[in-house]
Amino acid sequence: MINPKEFIDESVKKIKDQIGDEKAVIALSGGVDSSVCSVLVSEAIGDNLTAVFVNHGLLREGEIEQVCGIFEERLTNFKYVDASDIFLSELEGVKDPEEKRKIIGRVFIEVFEKEAEAIDAKFLVQGTIAPDIIETEGKIKSHHNATLPSGMVLELCEPVIDLFKDEVRAVGTELGLPDELVHRQPFPGPGLAVRVLEPLTRENLAICRAADFIVRDEIKKAGLDEMLWQYFAVLTDTKATGVKEGSRDFGYLVVVRLIQSVNAMTATVPEIPWEVLKTISSRISAEVPEVTHVALSISDKPTATIEFA
Ligand code: XMP
Repeated sequence: MINPKEFIDESVKKIKDQIGDEKAVIALSGGVDSSVCSVLVSEAIGDNLTAVFVNHGLLREGEIEQVCGIFEERLTNFKYVDASDIFLSELEGVKDPEEKRKIIGRVFIEVFEKEAEAIDAKFLVQGTIAPDIIETEGKIKSHHNATLPSGMVLELCEPVIDLFKDEVRAVGTELGLPDELVHRQPFPGPGLAVRVLEPLTRENLAICRAADFIVRDEIKKAGLDEMLWQYFAVLTDTKATGVKEGSRDFGYLVVVRLIQSVNAMTATVPEIPWEVLKTISSRISAEVPEVTHVALSISDKPTATIEFA
């Protein structure tokens, strides 16, 4: 485990040396990694960093308000870009998760490069952390965090590339970032797109988002958020028969995934109080009309991965 204060001091020096008086840009997702990098780099180069928060339409309930609320205050050059229509029209009807990742990666770069050009940025700051590299090299999934497009003209600055998640969190706390952000569960760059196993549509996304909100809400209320690494809902491509208001219904199967991990390389499913699981299940079935069945994934990583797709 690193010493967060020493890491910050050394890192700020290194960033100043690398970037000098040039302009830099970062895609700030509101996740721990890019948030910590944004604040670290802004400590080093101040106004010369522009942090761009792109809404790709695949975010969770409440996320836009939360991220904008925190960073409009904390950073001088924070920019919110709503590109959801562009992303969602390119993704419409796409089912294959790797295809979704490719599209999202490509459109993201297109949107983001416009912002970088507008400020004449020379450096791209990225919140890549150690497991991103390890898993991409292992070719398990193409985590687009670690994949650079060809012809990219920006130079890379990756301040937390040697750190694991728990270390990035410790640095975030030392930097004075709020707990809700430092202890926020990891959320994949491609967002809810990899949690909708059906061909992607706005309707499917809304089902997944509504179920995900219930999982987060109940886990937080039960005080289990701190003991879990990730907790979310997956909208599967399986339909199952149900009975709603006395008549037959044929709706979706949603899978709830609640896991513990230290760095996402391995993960286990802990025992969760039965009442919490029952509440999650009944709320999803009652509040999300398209869902008839709710299941719990009890697979560890390995052999499963954390995400379904
Ligand atoms: P898996 O599913 O490979 O996930 O066990 C390991 C960790 O990575 C996250 N994840 C992603 N993060 N882009 C990302 O930025 C992606 O495409 C992606 N796929 C998975 C996942 O949520 C978990 O924390």
